[in-house]
Amino acid sequence: MLYGRGGEQAAIARLLQSTRAGVGGALVLRGEPGIGKSALLGLAAAADDFSVLRAAGVEAESGLAYATLHQLLHTVLDGAGRLPAAQADALWAAFGLREADVPGRFLVAVAVLALLSEVATDRPVLCVVDDAQLADGPSMEALAFVARRLEVDPVALLVAVREGEGREVDTTGMPELRLSGLDPPSSAALLQERCGASLAPAVADTLARSTGGNPLALIEAADSLTGRQLAGRDPLPESVPLAGALEALYVERIRHRSPEAQALLLLVAAEGSGYLGVVGRAASLLGADPWLLGSAELDDLLVIDGPAVAFRHPLVRSAAYQAASPSARRAAHLALADALRAEVAEADRRAWHLAQASAGPDELRATGESARRRDPTALDQLTPQELQVARLVGQGATNHEAAAQLFLSPRTIDYHLRKVFRKANISSRSELIRLVYAGDPLLKPPGAESPSASS
Ligand SMILES: Nc1ncnc2c1ncn2[C@@H]1O[C@H](COP(=O)(O)OP(=O)(O)OP(=O)(O)O)[C@@H](O)[C@H]1O
Ligand SMILES: [Mg+2]
Repeated sequence: MLYGRGGEQAAIARLLQSTRAGVGGALVLRGEPGIGKSALLGLAAAADDFSVLRAAGVEAESGLAYATLHQLLHTVLDGAGRLPAAQADALWAAFGLREADVPGRFLVAVAVLALLSEVATDRPVLCVVDDAQLADGPSMEALAFVARRLEVDPVALLVAVREGEGREVDTTGMPELRLSGLDPPSSAALLQERCGASLAPAVADTLARSTGGNPLALIEAADSLTGRQLAGRDPLPESVPLAGALEALYVERIRHRSPEAQALLLLVAAEGSGYLGVVGRAASLLGADPWLLGSAELDDLLVIDGPAVAFRHPLVRSAAYQAASPSARRAAHLALADALRAEVAEADRRAWHLAQASAGPDELRATGESARRRDPTALDQLTPQELQVARLVGQGATNHEAAAQLFLSPRTIDYHLRKVFRKANISSRSELIRLVYAGDPLLKPPGAESPSASS
């Protein structure tokens, strides 16, 4: 049950209504953590006369081009067969489903629009993208392009962005709603639901004011106060957690758990997309018992649903990560990389974990990994520009980031990168990253210590 939010629900209802009538459009929900963006998306996604497609930005994939778009569209990709060949090819290539040149962004965006319009010939389509601040740039760029051209298709796009975190999401041309706190009566109703009959009106007032009506902060407050405090018979503590302080509250809660539980929470946080199997394998590698994941000790922080594990709230995830020391985080990423070793399709994700672990050569050896043997003179043939590109990408930069640093276009970066791959006799970014971490002297940024020089 959602309290308040009449204006927001009406705006979403208007968008869905006009989409049913063939005039699609987009709407962006922005706001602080816990303010209720996902809750509104969830309500919209229950529209059962729509084909609903959903995706959510995931930190571990935010550097992988088109990962979010793939999440959104994978269930309807069959429809690409009915698009003009160039568009279908662009989609297959963008999603890495076919060996081909990286397609131009414009072509991919046009193909996404065409695919959605194709899917919408049966029933209207609602695309829901949560946590867009963690989505990859190319996906959001394509979706923004699509959003500006929906007036003639029964397709609606709803996007939620957490304010002040992750990447800046470009939503030019999309109408936006900025969510503020619930009004005092709605805050009181939420508190009332949460704590039963014994809530004093004056306490409800105080909590509504001190939390600014942030639903998550209200829920936390209701859960952390005693029955006597809620009933107004005991005084309230000096300060009730505000939304900004919630993360700190979770960090505290996590630090009071057993070391094994903390290690598991960190693994789930570092893994980031909820694959219970991968987390479980990594846990075993670290000597932690994966069964603990589903135990009562973690029940207030984690939800396990079939093969998926998720935090009860995204703030718990960042708190679990923050609560850990840098070396524990590195160990977690290394264990996850190792857990993904057998999965060929996950090579990029694996490389990302290795990069997060800033794995030096010793750690690579510990995971059974080594830089591939290659002709030692191969890298000598790189031009200065190729070398710059190789260094940046080898340190984990996306094409976009490398482009921005070198004042080149992402397309030019891609061009140089292909040459680097050919000359270095490698075929993926992960191998390039490994070369950098293996301390290849040529790839060492000028003036930097190679990881192996200090060991
Ligand atoms: N209007 C509401 N009435 C009742 N409960 C609400 C309302 N809005 C949000 N909640 C509850 O508050 C909690 C936080 O909401 P939600 O997860 O939607 O926040 P969010 O804006 O998506 O936060 P984040 O940026 O961290 O993803 C959830 O448990 C949700 O069910
Ligand atoms: Mg959310």
